[in-house]
Amino acid sequence: MRLWIALVAVCSLLAPPGPQAQPTVPAEPFHDGLRGTTPLDEEAKPPLIYPTENKDVIRGRAYAQQPPTIPHKIDGYQVDKNANRCLSCHARSRAAESGAVPIGVTHYADRAGTTLGTLAPRRYFCTQCHVPQADTKPLVSNTFTDIEDIRVAPGPKASPARRN
Ligand code: HEC
Ligand code: HEC
Repeated sequence: MRLWIALVAVCSLLAPPGPQAQPTVPAEPFHDGLRGTTPLDEEAKPPLIYPTENKDVIRGRAYAQQPPTIPHKIDGYQVDKNANRCLSCHARSRAAESGAVPIGVTHYADRAGTTLGTLAPRRYFCTQCHVPQADTKPLVSNTFTDIEDIRVAPGPKASPARRN
């Protein structure tokens, strides 16, 4: 052990000094959208968990391909290899009885684009894409604008078309 320490000490003496001795620490105080000002090596005080919105009213979608958000509580719903509670209401065969929106046609297509007779395995774990919501302040800002809300400013006048 002592021999090792001596060896390491000698090696560090022999090593040429690097061009930069120490990386510079940024001057700004640490701030992170999720952690606030709590340094990385300390544990932040967890915020209160907001109650899940449970209004049973279907929400609008921000864009056509958005997985719709879940408008009801899903506490305790089992979704694992043994059972899928969501399908007990959302399967096409259960929709008439449950009043739930049946899973969309895309949920039957496998990754090769083949339409299967049952739910595609890649769509089995619903909460990978569908999530319940809570009425809270966003943790990170977002400037997303729906394509329908984008008004294109009139550009410079196009020059008259040339005839070839
Ligand atoms: C007890 C029946 C039931 C279960 C179980 C259930 N849902 Fe629902 N779900 C509904 C009903 C009914 C609606 C229609 C709106 C409402 O009443 O909440 C709905 C609405 C939705 C919607 C909105 C659809 C849209 O077009 O906007 C999504 C997404 C959804 N559920 C996902 C899930 C997921 C994921 C699970 C499992 C974690 C689940 N649901 C479990 C009954 C159920
Ligand atoms: C890989 C992501 C993904 C997974 C996993 C997934 N979905 Fe979806 N889901 C979507 C997307 C995207 C849409 C909207 C476009 C569409 O219909 O494909 C959607 C639409 C829906 C809709 C609305 C259908 C309609 O016609 O309006 C329901 C209900 C739904 N999903 C339920 C479920 C349930 C229940 C599961 C689990 C069995 C599930 N989804 C798994 C991505 C997913």
